[in-house]
Amino acid sequence: MKVGILGTGKVATNLATGLARAGHSVLLGSRQPAGKTAPAKNVSVGTHAETVRFGDAIILAVPLSAAKETLDGLGVGAWKGKTLIDATNAFPPPEGWPATTSAAEEVAKLARGAKVVKAFNTAFAPLMATGQIGGKKIAAFVAGDDAAAKKAVMGLAGDIGFDPIDAGPLAAARNLEPMAMEMIALGFGHGKMGSNIGLMLVR
Ligand SMILES: NC(=O)c1ccc[n+]([C@@H]2O[C@H](COP(=O)([O-])OP(=O)(O)OC[C@H]3O[C@@H](n4cnc5c(N)ncnc54)[C@H](OP(=O)(O)O)[C@@H]3O)[C@@H](O)[C@H]2O)c1
Repeated sequence: MKVGILGTGKVATNLATGLARAGHSVLLGSRQPAGKTAPAKNVSVGTHAETVRFGDAIILAVPLSAAKETLDGLGVGAWKGKTLIDATNAFPPPEGWPATTSAAEEVAKLARGAKVVKAFNTAFAPLMATGQIGGKKIAAFVAGDDAAAKKAVMGLAGDIGFDPIDAGPLAAARNLEPMAMEMIALGFGHGKMGSNIGLMLVR
């Protein structure tokens, strides 16, 4: 599949590495593509507009605070037929961040026409190239309202090496985003466990 990734940071480069290893073609979208190095074979760097045009699915991997400027810049109609995978977290959460919405639902309002799917937000970036720790598959919770788009994103997560789990409709992002806050607390707050930790779903 052709996958665009908006952003060139930790999440973007690790997901790009994992997707490229699985045989997908990846274009990273940068505000300043000139001079940016691709992290792996089968990965290139372009503008945001080129990235959205390129991808069948596009991963949003910018700070949530930059989502509006990133998505607004793409123009009306950019998302027709496209899947937008929201990997963002509201971190640190704004004062009074409500349980009546989520980053994913707010992103969907900014990218009209996109089939928005929440994924990858509960995993730490360094683990996104393999989706595993010591051969154990990390859970990739995938939430969305479009069944076909969700299935395709679960496929991408599985291709990287994650254990893909259907987490329900897009509004389930209201549950998945606080899970990421707890992971950050375990890794870098009171838990001090670092980023080499991940969630599993034992059935
Ligand atoms: N780090 C993690 O472990 C982790 C895990 C799960 C989810 N997330 C979420 O995934 C998203 C990306 O996280 P990250 O750790 O990859 O962040 P990062 O390393 O800081 O990278 C963010 C990228 O976004 C792009 N960007 C566009 N507009 C920006 C702006 N106004 N300010 C700063 N960067 C901007 C930048 O690429 P250009 O300069 O090339 O445009 C930058 O490389 C965030 O929403 C985060 O909450 C992070």
